Amino acid sequence: MSDIILSPSILASDFSKLGEQLKILEQCNVPYVHIDVMDGSFVPSISFGMPVIKAIRKSTKAVFDVHLMIDEPSRYIKDFKDAGADLITVHVEACKHLNRTIEQVKEQGLKVGVALNPATPIESIKHVLDMVDMVLIMTVNPGFGGQKYIESCTEKIVELKSMIDSKGLDVDIQVDGGININNINKVIDAGANVIVAGTAVFDKGNIKENVNDIMSII
Ligand code: DX5
Ligand code: ZN
Repeated sequence: MSDIILSPSILASDFSKLGEQLKILEQCNVPYVHIDVMDGSFVPSISFGMPVIKAIRKSTKAVFDVHLMIDEPSRYIKDFKDAGADLITVHVEACKHLNRTIEQVKEQGLKVGVALNPATPIESIKHVLDMVDMVLIMTVNPGFGGQKYIESCTEKIVELKSMIDSKGLDVDIQVDGGININNINKVIDAGANVIVAGTAVFDKGNIKENVNDIMSII
């Protein structure tokens, strides 16, 4: 059994059947659900927020992996906890005081991740690496599903993995954006162990088949 964690992004789901689709993922034993929150400021688009997360919390026991693509997420950490988040990831580019925001998430008893846009160097999180449970390497520019994987991100995964190992830390590496059955093994070989996939999981509504295809090759 592979120790790779699949985290399907519900941004690509059919919102009119969200509860049902989460149940299908649960039947497939998918451990995480990736929840993309967008504010129309940090990223161009707006997705959904606390009320939607609260509503779907009762549909599944999966880990709610909440990816906050919002400016100054420190304003809303408690609200996302109350809505049902288990893991909250904030962007290094969106936080004025990153250490403080990370601490805030931990104080709520949640797991914490820090995310980096494709153009942001790994170096920028060097001094918080020992504070987090996960680093999210964005492999597209955040804001939309269905974009193409940016090839230069592969070496960032390798670089991060070696930084984590050299410090003797136990930090998950998540990748997000443009991941599909053709490049998933490349990111895993580079060091990623938490894989976000939106389009690849929900494509054509064939969730079971798509998840089985992914699980059979990792
Ligand atoms: C992009 C989001 C991603 C996105 C991934 O801003 O953070 O989670 O939904 O979608 P795919 O897998 O379709 O690229
Ligand atoms: Zn995401």
